[in-house]
Amino acid sequence: MNGYLKGIIKKNKLILYSREHAIFIDNNNGYLVKRKCPHLKCNLLFNSVEKTWDCPCHGSRFDIEGNVISGPSKYDIKTKSVK
Ligand code: FES
Repeated sequence: MNGYLKGIIKKNKLILYSREHAIFIDNNNGYLVKRKCPHLKCNLLFNSVEKTWDCPCHGSRFDIEGNVISGPSKYDIKTKSVK
């Protein structure tokens, strides 16, 4: 990660955001993603209730492992599991 880090703790879950990446940590499992939505490059936000990466611009959603759930994005995002 580079640049600033912004952290949010919600119900024992930690979400860290930098300009380009985000990481979600829950029960010793971590998921690192590049925040850019494959559609038009808006920054993704983590939905801690549904454990999805959501795009606030046009509504694309991705599961915790980066697979696209709903479009308009046709492409998955890359995630990396971190321990
Ligand atoms: S930029 Fe994410 S859905 Fe369009």
